[in-house]
Amino acid sequence: MSEVNRQILLAARPSGFPSASDFQMVSSPVPDPGEEQVLVQVIYLSVDPYMRGRMSEAKSYAAPVNIGDVMTGGGVSRVIKSRHPRFAEGDIVEGITGWQEYAVLNGRGLRKIDPSFAPLSSALGVLGMPGLTAYFGLLDICKPKAGETVVVSGAAGAVGSLAGQIAKIQGCRAVGIAGTDDKVAWLTGELGFDAAFNYKTVSSYRSKLAELCPQGIDCYFDNVGGSITDAVMALINQSARIAICGQISQYNLDKPEMGPRLLGQLIVKRARIEGFLVMDYAARFKEGLTQMAAWLREGKLIYREQFTEGIESAPQAFLGLLQGANTGKQLVRVSPE
Ligand SMILES: NC(=O)c1ccc[n+]([C@@H]2O[C@H](COP(=O)([O-])OP(=O)(O)OC[C@H]3O[C@@H](n4cnc5c(N)ncnc54)[C@H](OP(=O)(O)O)[C@@H]3O)[C@@H](O)[C@H]2O)c1
Repeated sequence: MSEVNRQILLAARPSGFPSASDFQMVSSPVPDPGEEQVLVQVIYLSVDPYMRGRMSEAKSYAAPVNIGDVMTGGGVSRVIKSRHPRFAEGDIVEGITGWQEYAVLNGRGLRKIDPSFAPLSSALGVLGMPGLTAYFGLLDICKPKAGETVVVSGAAGAVGSLAGQIAKIQGCRAVGIAGTDDKVAWLTGELGFDAAFNYKTVSSYRSKLAELCPQGIDCYFDNVGGSITDAVMALINQSARIAICGQISQYNLDKPEMGPRLLGQLIVKRARIEGFLVMDYAARFKEGLTQMAAWLREGKLIYREQFTEGIESAPQAFLGLLQGANTGKQLVRVSPE
């Protein structure tokens, strides 16, 4: 075990798109756990779009990271020292560790992972927060029925790639929207989406969606917002259900973007639109994880992860995620398993 803990701090609040200079790496001594605490060594760190919100002072559902504090983030870690009755040295755990190599944690929200069950990193993706987001957002809010058309934006990312596959498991037509031709090929090839398109190369989102959704759109799982969502709204069917999971196209804007005002569509189509936070489903996480694990074992879910190496690469991994460099779940390998 190293005696030095390398940490990534928030150095500045970004205006618009964040940059590497908004982060600073520092080294500090590895801390000792107090009573009812554990010291963990981070193995995999997750980078997620919500972290852009934590860099900003704007009021949200969670407090911002203060300038000079360790960036927040979830990780899979190994318990190195334990003074907590629930955890032993060597346990593998998943929980909020921050962007650092070692963390002292009090055990709240810390989940033990069975290393024999699935690759450790999957606890941050298909068998973790992104998987649960896809599961509850699609099944609880969109409530898809067999034969319906489900459109997923941000479809080749961690959440979207799973939401589309769950739609397929429900017997729906899944149509994905993503930002490169390779992502589109992955969706319609390996993942079994019925159709998909690259939003960066089509001339009209609306015409493309109309072509790929000849029966209209019954469910929309929205990860991106903005003009992609405007185009979907124009094509929804009667009694459509829209889950607002994320609005990544808006996260780096200093001023809210104005768009067409389409809420009238909800009246005409008697449709429902609902935002949700995966944490609101915490009481049902066991149900979600059990089902996702079963689908994984049955070969009904496919997932992809990509890694950058070392805690020093966390800013690059995060900035890449905001620019669409990832296919599937973006992770940082902080230390060897
Ligand atoms: N409500 C909740 O509880 C909850 C929980 C987890 C995540 N989320 C939200 O769900 C969404 C997906 O999260 P994730 O972790 O799965 O991330 P992700 O999809 O793996 O990564 C983000 C993706 O967003 C796409 N993107 C970036 N800028 C865009 C733009 N301007 N327009 C359209 N697409 C853009 C990029 O793919 P392209 O190449 O396709 O552009 C990028 O790969 C995010 O909005 C996130 O905030 C919500």
